[in-house]
This record gives sequence, C-alpha cells and structure tokens, in this order.
Amino acid sequence: MTRNAQRGQFVTLEGIDGAGKSTHAAWLVEALRARGLTVVATREPGGTRIGEALRELLLRQPMAHDTEALLMFAARREHVLQVIEPALARGDLVLCDRYTDATWAYQGGGHRVSKSLIADLERHVHAGCNPDLTLLFDVPSSVSRDRLERMRALGRDLDKFELEDAGFFDRVRDAYLERAAADPSRFRVIDGGRPLAEVRAELARIVSAL
Ligand code: TYD
Repeated sequence: MTRNAQRGQFVTLEGIDGAGKSTHAAWLVEALRARGLTVVATREPGGTRIGEALRELLLRQPMAHDTEALLMFAARREHVLQVIEPALARGDLVLCDRYTDATWAYQGGGHRVSKSLIADLERHVHAGCNPDLTLLFDVPSSVSRDRLERMRALGRDLDKFELEDAGFFDRVRDAYLERAAADPSRFRVIDGGRPLAEVRAELARIVSAL
C-alpha cells in the first residue's frame, strides 16, 4: 500500500541580518514537532553538500554580483532536487531558513542584480516549488546594525553580507517589504524589534494554524 501522499507544507524564514530569524528558527522547529508534524529543517545557501560548499564561497569570497545570484540559484537547484521536493512529496513540513525571497532582497535589492536575470533563474530552478508561508522578521537597519555590532563585540566573525553598510540593508529591507506587500496571503510580517516573549507568542499563534 502506498503512503498518504498529501503534499507537505513549505515554510520559509526571511529577514535582514540581525532581525532575529536565527534566534527563532530552533524554537519554531521544536514547536512544530510538538504539534506532531514531521519537520525537515534546512537552510540556504546550503542544505546539501554542494550547497554548503557554495555557502562557504558565497559568504566569504568577494565576487561579481551576478555571479552571486547564479551561485545562490545553483545551490538552490541541488537543494530543491535533493531535499525540498522529496520532503514535500513525503508529506513533511519543510522549514527553510531563507529561499528565493532572499535573492530578490539581497542580490536584487541590495546589489541591484537585474530582475529579469533573477526571474529567469527562479523559473528554471523551482517553477512550481514555492513557499506556502513566509515569515518575514522585520527590523529597521539601525536595529540590525546594533545587533551585529554586539555579536562582533562578543567575538562572532561577521560574514561578507553582515559587513555591508546601512544603505545596503535599507535596500534589502525595502525589497523584502515590497515582496510582502505584493503577496500578503503568503507573507506574515513579524516585528522583530519587540521583546523575545512577544515575538514567540505571535509565532505560537502562527504555528497553531499549521
Ligand atoms: P544567514 O541566513 O543570516 O545565516 P546566519 O544566521 O548563520 O548568519 O546567512 C546567509 C547570508 O546569505 C545572509 O547574509 C543573506 C545571504 N543570502 C543572499 O544574499 N541571497 C540568498 O539568496 C540567500 C539564500 C542568502
């Protein structure tokens, strides 16, 4: 007998660096598992051996901005084929820390890579494999900067993107908010500047609906 092949849910986490996304990701996984869901927690760039190798390059090496977009989508192609599609086909919930909205925001908004290139790559790499729900953690770039500075003071080595200036993060944030405004049924914009407990209470309400 074949297993119940109802397609799983695809949930992505987005936001500028320092918006609190990573802090909440682990809690979210546990909250979803506590509801009895089978969760595949993964991240981009990364999630496969090739993807993690590309992540090292993408986060450390300077490169042309369109090269960056091409490599993000190369990593994503492997991730979709090896991890995301099989998990959704099994009926699992995929919780992915960043996906194509990050490319639109960072490469498109932050680095001004052409929208037509990103749209072409998106179509080739994952037409038909799009998130059902995207949680966008939103903070002003000044809050992001303060949090990154604090991390650096505690000895955390900042990556290539985290070292960008405030103008870059303003453009990334604007691009995220534009995408959220254009697709309100997919996005939940979460004010990441509030105390942890408040953000968690909102996440708990969202999780209970999944
Ligand atoms: P991030 O998700 O912030 O991981 P960590 O919480 O471990 O720092 O790091 C990934 C970085 O990659 C982040 O700065 C955004 C960037 N990125 C892009 O520029 N484009 C993309 O398409 C993706 C997926 C990530």
